[in-house]
Amino acid sequence: MDRKIQSADGSQTYYSSLFKECYHSLKDGAFTETMHKHILPPLLFGDVLQQAKIRILDICFGLGYNSFASAWAYKTRSYDGKLEILSPEIDDSIFEKIQCIDYPREWDYLQIRENIAYLKSQKQVSLDTNTTLKVVIKDAFLFLDELEDLSIDIIYHDAFSLKSTPKFWERDFFATLYRILVPNGMVTTYVTHKDVYEVAKSVGFRVYKYQNYFCRKSTILTKNLILKHPDLYLES
Ligand SMILES: C[S@@+](CC[C@H](N)C(=O)[O-])C[C@H]1O[C@@H](n2cnc3c(N)ncnc32)[C@H](O)[C@@H]1O
Repeated sequence: MDRKIQSADGSQTYYSSLFKECYHSLKDGAFTETMHKHILPPLLFGDVLQQAKIRILDICFGLGYNSFASAWAYKTRSYDGKLEILSPEIDDSIFEKIQCIDYPREWDYLQIRENIAYLKSQKQVSLDTNTTLKVVIKDAFLFLDELEDLSIDIIYHDAFSLKSTPKFWERDFFATLYRILVPNGMVTTYVTHKDVYEVAKSVGFRVYKYQNYFCRKSTILTKNLILKHPDLYLES
């Protein structure tokens, strides 16, 4: 049975009986993992805050941590452009789970529970004056196929693991990520598996392993961006 679990940093996540794994790393913590593996890398190593508009693709919505944390993180950095978040999700039972989670108090202004009915309707919801979020209940593979070439600035690749959802980690999927990402865009993922690195490189991505000091290592993929930082290791 699906059940709510408290992760190491005190934030709440769920165990999925269907996929037989947790939505987040219990050791790293749902909030900590979200921030350090997905939300912060483009802010620390990219130049997105200079853009008038940022389009984020959050694969997949799950409990919404990545999408909600993005709205909050860009607002706290006084980003005054337009932030548009798109997120496919196959399982519409996530909305009941979201209803039961106590998210960080700093996110109260996002009115997550109040917005669930709108999110369920799959219409675009305004999370604040600058940020819109659209959750689409659809197979991510079909959803991504419909996205235009070079139309996404940041992709959070946060599907379940290689073991339970292998197609998300295959060459075809990474070729699609490469196709839809803008030249200076970034893909973030928690996976650091060598085979996945080979697949990402084979479609043209530069692959950087990121050693941050708050949780386990993660990965950043870029097309044209060359990243130089003591915590980033280019995989050759
Ligand atoms: C690791 S969880 C995502 C966690 C989420 N990013 C968050 O911040 O809470 C993976 C999600 O992928 C969804 N999923 C699995 N297969 C999918 C598919 N083919 N298309 C869309 N969503 C899928 C699952 O239902 C689950 O919600």
